[in-house]
Amino acid sequence: MLVDLAIVDVLQTASPPELGPLRGKKMSSLEIKRGVNIAIEGGKITYVGSEFVKANEYVDGSQLVVIPGFVDCHTHIPFVGSRSDEFIMRLSGKSYMDIMNAGGGIRSTVREVRSAPASRIVAESMGYLDAMLSLGVTTIEGKSGYGLDRDNELKQLKVLKTLNSIHPMDIIPTFLGAHALTEEYRSAEEFLDSMADMFSELGEYTDTVDIFCEKGVFNEMQSRKYLSKAKKMGFKTKLHADELSSSGGGRLAVELGATSADHLISADNETLELLAKSDTVCTLLPGTSFFLNEDFARGRELIDRGAIVALASDFNPGSCNIYNPFLIIFLAVSRCGLSVEEAINAYTVNSAYALRLESRKGRVEEGYDADLLLLKVKDYSEIVYNFSRDLVKGVIKSGKKVR
Ligand code: NIG
Ligand code: FE
Repeated sequence: MLVDLAIVDVLQTASPPELGPLRGKKMSSLEIKRGVNIAIEGGKITYVGSEFVKANEYVDGSQLVVIPGFVDCHTHIPFVGSRSDEFIMRLSGKSYMDIMNAGGGIRSTVREVRSAPASRIVAESMGYLDAMLSLGVTTIEGKSGYGLDRDNELKQLKVLKTLNSIHPMDIIPTFLGAHALTEEYRSAEEFLDSMADMFSELGEYTDTVDIFCEKGVFNEMQSRKYLSKAKKMGFKTKLHADELSSSGGGRLAVELGATSADHLISADNETLELLAKSDTVCTLLPGTSFFLNEDFARGRELIDRGAIVALASDFNPGSCNIYNPFLIIFLAVSRCGLSVEEAINAYTVNSAYALRLESRKGRVEEGYDADLLLLKVKDYSEIVYNFSRDLVKGVIKSGKKVR
């Protein structure tokens, strides 16, 4: 049979060994193959093996390592504008929360997003998507959360839908209306009720609801009430949990059977243990720790206790202006104690699981989407040591060469 594209005589393929999620010890294994041919047809991987493949187009893989495209399961795309002024303020001693409490932080991006036409939000976000795709990120999650009123939250969700339809990247949308309290409301409860009123309108845009459960933002009780409503209406739930303080978010994620608990920088021992025993994905976002100069989440302990650990960027204009997956992997390995293999699994098969895409994304395997990253290295482990170099030789998205 004649296929669309074949990558032949591949120096090395490194793939998560089985269907996700991988947890605990399983996270340290990668399936390595040498000299194989990869057949791609109709956007799917149709064959990986030593047989000859007849194709319309060939890529010589003899100098390449092939891994799955990265799945970034936590970004704050779409947004507009920059908060470099806040970054400078932090250098002179102000904290992220100081700036937020003074009316800046998330609310400053909210002002920009509210005043921007959808077309500008699309255009700026497209630039980020292009840059990420060229670094081998082939799927992202993106959130609303910079609108914080009905019309502007819907504007962001519509932008996500547009982006997904015009950009090669797969974009999985999440509703983060509960991102910060705005001046228009007297209390967090009143604000959250107004956001929950939107749940019935979200069906055509998203199936997932997120909240920023944090001291000084939305507390555990408020988050429980809000997410319980979402759950009752059939939404998957996730939380920004125990990010800057131990706030009960990780615990609550387990209690609610949330899809993921993200950040976990400040999670206590008991929370780590509960998460490790649960099916909730622990999404580590070490770029945020680095960017805010905070502690790093205890990734090593989570994996040793048996957790499902995923990695993502948290790319946003305030707490983490980083979308480069190689830097995130470097930080996960050097600061959170993951091995290279664990970091690759966390950024592919497990992050795909966090978005419930595990049956078609995150592996170099027959039947999976042909979202592949072609690296000019001799061995996959080099991506950490050489993280700051341009290692990407090619990116294949849905079977098409996009770089
Ligand atoms: O994941 N913590 C809340 N949300 C983002 C920050 C968003 C922002 O600062 O604009 C985060 O860190
Ligand atoms: Fe975030």
